[in-house]
Amino acid sequence: MHIVNTVSELRDALRVWRSTGQCVALVPTMGNLHDGHLALVAEAKKKADRVVVSIFVNPTQFGVGEDFESYPRTEQDDQQKLMAIGVDVLFQPAVSAIYTPDAKTLVSVTGLSELYCGAFRPGHFDGVATVVCKLFNIVQPDVAFFGLKDFQQLTVIRTMVRDLNMPVEIIGVETVREASGLAMSSRNGYLTSGEKIVAAKLYQSLCVARDAVVAGQQSYRDIERSALLFLQEAGFKPDYFKLCRSRDLKIATKEDSKLVLLAAARLGKTRLIDNIWLRLRSANDKQRLASDEQSSASDEQSSANDEQRSVIEAEDEVCPPVAERSRS
Ligand code: PAJ
Repeated sequence: MHIVNTVSELRDALRVWRSTGQCVALVPTMGNLHDGHLALVAEAKKKADRVVVSIFVNPTQFGVGEDFESYPRTEQDDQQKLMAIGVDVLFQPAVSAIYTPDAKTLVSVTGLSELYCGAFRPGHFDGVATVVCKLFNIVQPDVAFFGLKDFQQLTVIRTMVRDLNMPVEIIGVETVREASGLAMSSRNGYLTSGEKIVAAKLYQSLCVARDAVVAGQQSYRDIERSALLFLQEAGFKPDYFKLCRSRDLKIATKEDSKLVLLAAARLGKTRLIDNIWLRLRSANDKQRLASDEQSSASDEQSSANDEQRSVIEAEDEVCPPVAERSRS
């Protein structure tokens, strides 16, 4: 594995592969790698000839008073994991290699970036869009991999790529969870052992809400209200819990069939986010489908969806097709 710190070193490393027509994948990360990150790398290895992973704790996506300084930096550990899985290049630049002090340009996916997490972390998604745009320009990957765990981030990036005609394919990969259901995250390390048990209730709240949507019995706004109450009673301070349409993250109505439940809540000092996507067969259809094994495991559904994968390759939207699930 080549480890490179500057843009020119990286371009040198990529030149040969590009000139021989090899497919290059990029997996952008902020390091402190866990199995969620490694799932992205594993999918990238399946799809591309060469895999570049970037580790860059991007200052512009952290707000004032957020955890930029204390964000876990575990360089040696990360390098070992990437070496073991077989990455070609690790791009690990200093802040000065990415940002010039007098930079004037910001990429902003307006509207989308102010919703949900954006409302609680002003400027966050402008920082994400800007650094991902820069990484795309630096690496010029054919394909890039992002986690569905950060669903709004993935939507922002897909929208940026579409709006700016960026020649890169974006692939979303299913969320990797602890046995408790807690979505893996570098910030889980901030949780105490007691909080870690409670933290799994965020996913539980999403599952309960998803089941209510699939059952079709309650109003969507009532489902959101019940989930917020459940989270408060469990000890969270919820930021939001919303049922949205997956395409553009607008609030879902009963007419929409491709949906995502988005949630963010604070537990002690830690802010957690999670989501579940689901697709209803049709808005008025009695037979509704959801994204989990329980509700998508019927024979009829499986036979209609025999190509099941954990990788999501939606062309015109973020939400994956019905019951596309990992076999594992
Ligand atoms: P980071 O939080 O390090 O995440 C890097 C990538 O891993 C993101 O695409 C994220 O969605 C994915 N990921 C994180 N946890 C996951 C999990 N449990 N299952 C599956 N995928 C998971 O997201 C960022 O960094 C930054 O915002 C970045 C895109 C690198 C821009 O700075």
